Amino acid sequence: MTTILRTVADLRTEVRAWKAQGKTVGVVPTMGALHDGHLSLARRARAECDRVIVTIFVNPMQFNNPEDLKKYPRTEEADAALLRSVGVELIFAPAPEEVYPEGFSTTVSVAGVSEPLEGKMRPGHFDGVATVVTKLFGMTMADRGYFGQKDWQQLQVVQKLVRDLNLPITIVGCETIREPDGLAMSSRNVRLTDAGRRIAPVFYAAITAAAEDIRAGQSDRMAIREAAVTMRDAGFERVEYIELRDAETLLPSHDPTRPRRMLAAAWLDGVRLIDNIPV
Ligand code: PAJ
Repeated sequence: MTTILRTVADLRTEVRAWKAQGKTVGVVPTMGALHDGHLSLARRARAECDRVIVTIFVNPMQFNNPEDLKKYPRTEEADAALLRSVGVELIFAPAPEEVYPEGFSTTVSVAGVSEPLEGKMRPGHFDGVATVVTKLFGMTMADRGYFGQKDWQQLQVVQKLVRDLNLPITIVGCETIREPDGLAMSSRNVRLTDAGRRIAPVFYAAITAAAEDIRAGQSDRMAIREAAVTMRDAGFERVEYIELRDAETLLPSHDPTRPRRMLAAAWLDGVRLIDNIPV
């Protein structure tokens, strides 16, 4: 049985009862419009925890564009059916007023790792993410939290805030789930035209080729420039960034002995896509 709860008070009552029975609790924070990427997190949580909560909340605080917030797909019934099929016990889907009541005035801001890349392109975005994730951890009292590597920078922000604030939760980073042609699954992919959808896999192919070239000894700059040219030639309107960074701090990294990550954002059909891979 999958229960849907709307208030923090009801959620707490349920979780307290589980904890009294010694059950471990996993949480998967989402904004809904679920696809196989989200479900892979729920399945992993299902395998590792006694009880699983999936939160569905389109968090106004992390949108810097009101139009984007309004357009965000909301498909709660379909989401609930999918989560039921995975065996999730509880969906927490609060209204905005439940999460941000009148007078709410606290912001969690993770300096450093929040600032480059997505942080630069979307000012305030990671403050919104860090604040809501901290609140969701407090509300659910979960022992384990599941996040996708698809949003690599977000995953590093969450890891850092958990360490910095000594939150009693273990963060699990899960592999990016891709379409058979390599395109990373995303709620935004449905907004691509048919032609755009055919072009989109060039993104992953181009950054994969660049990562291989760098591993084979080519200069970072050359390999990245080639990837950007390939994408623009294929029909991407704009390559916002392709960067090779330290996988944890997201600072520029030229030290191949440290784990590194290639992160990228690009526009296709007026849709902003992001992806990242290890190097
Ligand atoms: P949302 O975009 O709904 O994503 C929810 C979770 O699913 C995130 O941890 C994201 O990294 C993961 N995810 C998305 N696509 C994935 C894919 N193709 N493979 C694996 N995991 C994938 O990210 C958010 O929501 C919000 O910022 C949130 C953390 C819920 C805070 O509001």
